[in-house]
Amino acid sequence: MTDDALVIFTPSGKRGRFALGTLVLSAARALGVDLDSVCGGRGICSKCQIVPGYGEFSKHGVTVAADALSEWNAVEERYDRVRGLAKGRRLGCQAQVMGDVVIDVPPESQVHKQVIRKSATERVIAMDAATRAVYVEVDEPDMHEPSGDFERLSRALAAQWQIEGIEAGPEVLRRLQPVLRKGGWTVTVVVHQGNHDARPRVLDIFPGFHDGPLYGLAVDLGSTTIAAHLCDLSDGRVLASSGVMNPQIRFGEDLMSRVSYAMMNPGGDVEMTRAVREAIDSLARSIAAEAGVDPGSIYEMVLVCNPVMHHLFLGIDPVELGQAPFALALSGSLSLDAQDLDLGALNPAARVYVLPCIAGHVGADCAAVALSEEPGKSRDMVLIVDVGTNAEILLGNETRVLACSSPTGPAFEGAQISSGQRAAPGAIERVEIDPATKEPRFKVIGCDLWSTDPGFAEATAQTGITGICGSGIIEAVAEMRMAGLVDASGLIGSADQTGTARALPHGRTHSYLLHDGRDAGGPRIMVTQGDIRAIQLAKSALYAGARLLMDEFGVDKVDRVTLAGAFGAHISPKHAMVLGMIPDVPLDRVTSAGNAAGTGARIALLNRAARDQIEATVHDIHKVETAIEPRFQEHFVAANAIPHAVDPFPELARIVTLPNVSFNTGGGGSGDRRRRRG
Ligand code: FES
Repeated sequence: MTDDALVIFTPSGKRGRFALGTLVLSAARALGVDLDSVCGGRGICSKCQIVPGYGEFSKHGVTVAADALSEWNAVEERYDRVRGLAKGRRLGCQAQVMGDVVIDVPPESQVHKQVIRKSATERVIAMDAATRAVYVEVDEPDMHEPSGDFERLSRALAAQWQIEGIEAGPEVLRRLQPVLRKGGWTVTVVVHQGNHDARPRVLDIFPGFHDGPLYGLAVDLGSTTIAAHLCDLSDGRVLASSGVMNPQIRFGEDLMSRVSYAMMNPGGDVEMTRAVREAIDSLARSIAAEAGVDPGSIYEMVLVCNPVMHHLFLGIDPVELGQAPFALALSGSLSLDAQDLDLGALNPAARVYVLPCIAGHVGADCAAVALSEEPGKSRDMVLIVDVGTNAEILLGNETRVLACSSPTGPAFEGAQISSGQRAAPGAIERVEIDPATKEPRFKVIGCDLWSTDPGFAEATAQTGITGICGSGIIEAVAEMRMAGLVDASGLIGSADQTGTARALPHGRTHSYLLHDGRDAGGPRIMVTQGDIRAIQLAKSALYAGARLLMDEFGVDKVDRVTLAGAFGAHISPKHAMVLGMIPDVPLDRVTSAGNAAGTGARIALLNRAARDQIEATVHDIHKVETAIEPRFQEHFVAANAIPHAVDPFPELARIVTLPNVSFNTGGGGSGDRRRRRG
């Protein structure tokens, strides 16, 4: 009979020998096994639940006897009586090792549990949030040893949780004394531990043991839309995701028009700061309401955005970003008080972390995309395109990563399009046009049927057919090109030239009638020549940015393309390539990453190490400036044709044959050179 026993933890596989009588929680800590505890082993929080396994474990070479752990003790019995302990579970801080044992740590008992990101490129996020709750027992005051309640709380946190040198704001200090006394000198403290040399900070304090939830908000502040995810900081679950239009649109649709608004109107920057802060504050309220939680339990927010949004949100005049050399007021990450940013919906002590910017035109949103997609870890040459009003573009592999931003304008988001609208029920999101009859069919958001399917009218009666969203216009224009309704220069043909009465005269140009809803009281939805021009400008800017990075890297093709952006997941790779939005690449090498900037914000919210990682990585990303680079203009002009005036698209030619039509009645036209062999 030995006086120690073998303890094996699963799923980690960590093992060690411990003296009989050792608490399972102590054994776990000694081995560095990830077993949670909020109450510090006092049998209050139940976070330390484990599942002992009994019998033969040939894989581990042990047999576990029925008495391998101590019997249930009074604490476990009380816990089971009051709150219930699932069958087969024990509290790790109460059960003692009495013989060789195999102990499973279920996911919910792991601090650093892993959250699988649901997307084409699955990514695991290890939980390690900056904000967490801990339970402490604080010494009572003693007249003979005078010290403040806060100092004794600070000592308790250092001794019981190794949290050294805490600080607290006035709001917490005001409540400290009554809370300590109400809790009988035991309290649950919400602590925020940022990275670097930032001191840990008390965000909230509750009497006794408090099992309240802690939430965080990951916000992607775009020029046109603001998207947010509300996350549970203990397990990373996304409770709700929501978005609103950026109210700054009324000051200018794109970034530079907002910078000029600030330049031309004294106090204009202040107005825009107020508008965007109010919008984020009310988004926090509404997303909390949607999830049915108290916004006061939101303790942290992570924000990503482009440099102009970054400055305007922080209350910094963006004027320097409007002119070379495009100097940022500051580029490093920031950790701030939500109160100072007028975010009153959040907990009064909530913290805000802003990701670092890469450079003058390449912001924290691009850094967030890099964090989410990790181009610097890719063996292949990967091009990542975050499609928005301002496209963020990254190109690279494990040797080097380049980045630029390109002013695509809001056309891809359905703005500046005659029938354009936000992606919402009733918006056309998929389009097909029969190349023989030139007749369209389409799908709208909120209905799985095609417009030619029986029952479509009934199924869409509620929402109506209201307009075209970003992915819908991309498909519509690409389908028009494939059906011979639009030539390579982007001209829409007349009814005579195309053989369809859907090509309607529109001033001196033509439009294609996609849907006439007037009989049902709805709008006529057309694709006009102006719409095609807006899409051409946007896609040329995107392609030119990508080409510029390829030039800089010295490559003329990429191995794969990742489409990201608020609606990146909805863009059809084939249609994007027909338009020439992205360089030619085998279609199965084009994937969608969804809102990668938002995902990057979520990763930084849930994992502190990710903040260190991106703060280090931004220095290695080489920024390429599109605004002053003459080659950008050349690439932009050549990219105006659909798909391109010069660059071959051999992969596209394998799957699509574009009709060689020209509607330029003046003769000539740019012709269709796409189908030449590449
Ligand atoms: Fe809190 Fe075991 S550590 S109940």
